[in-house]
Amino acid sequence: MNPVDLLRKVPLFETLPPADLEGLASAVRLESFPPQVNIVEVGDPGHSLYLVVEGTVQVLAPGRSADFELARLSEGDFFGEMALLNSLPRSATVRSVQEVKVLVLDKADFHRILAASPEAALKVLETLSLRIRNADEQISGLSDKAVRDALTGLLNRRAFHERLAQETERARRYGDHFALILLDVDRFKALNDTLGHDVGDAVLVWLGRLLTEHTRQADVPFRIGGEEFAILAPGTSAEMAHTVSQRLVNTVAAARPPVEPELHVTVSAGYAVCPEHAVRPNTVYSLADQALLRAKSEGKNRVCAPKDTH
Ligand code: CMP
Repeated sequence: MNPVDLLRKVPLFETLPPADLEGLASAVRLESFPPQVNIVEVGDPGHSLYLVVEGTVQVLAPGRSADFELARLSEGDFFGEMALLNSLPRSATVRSVQEVKVLVLDKADFHRILAASPEAALKVLETLSLRIRNADEQISGLSDKAVRDALTGLLNRRAFHERLAQETERARRYGDHFALILLDVDRFKALNDTLGHDVGDAVLVWLGRLLTEHTRQADVPFRIGGEEFAILAPGTSAEMAHTVSQRLVNTVAAARPPVEPELHVTVSAGYAVCPEHAVRPNTVYSLADQALLRAKSEGKNRVCAPKDTH
């Protein structure tokens, strides 16, 4: 295929008048890369733009342990534009997935086309804006991943400690109060050992849903350990915390997990209220935890209040 026909495959240039396309055809060169070759390397200076006419490349951001795939580009896409526009080193590595054919265009020619063709410049901007949007979505996905428990979708232990600190601070500043309720699945290890981890996991997912459904919108459930859940309930007094905890314990005992409808799952609960029982996050947590341990040792499937301490 001659260079003009190859250039027609690239949407970036589809609006160029035939004469400009001819001129461009003499400026580009066709290069082939075997699979798994770095065509562009992160950190290198950038001198050229690459137009993919055949095959697929991966755009990779180097991570601490492994490369992170930002995008895959194929026939009609281009890469290497960023370093030519901002004169910074290459922002990512671009590697061939299979055998790849690219048209290579020098920086000066790329700039010339952008200056001559507002349509081509607009296409480059459009592509850049889509790349930023994808990257934004990936970033928000990753930050969400850092605070979500992959199994139940609830917020995780890390998010819990952050939120607990925020709630105690809010209580101190504005005189609000909140309850921390801890719940732990009774005899979970035995359940896992006899019915298997898949059933154990399904029970945890079911419990996560149950806790979400049976608490108010403002209450935030977390999975903070293997079979341990927490709920932060704003504006909740000690009396209300006891009622809510008891209701949750009763709800779990009365329900049946769909994965094993014969199974009787129960939970034990302990709670503490800020500032009634404690004012520091660690103390609120340890009082609720001690109450939970008491609920376990006193026979499970029950709620215990914290021992009064300040
Ligand atoms: P440049 O920085 O010159 O070299 C690496 C190239 O990878 C970059 O130009 C873009 O062409 C491409 N690239 C970088 N980040 C992304 C992304 N998030 N999505 C798609 N392509 C990208």
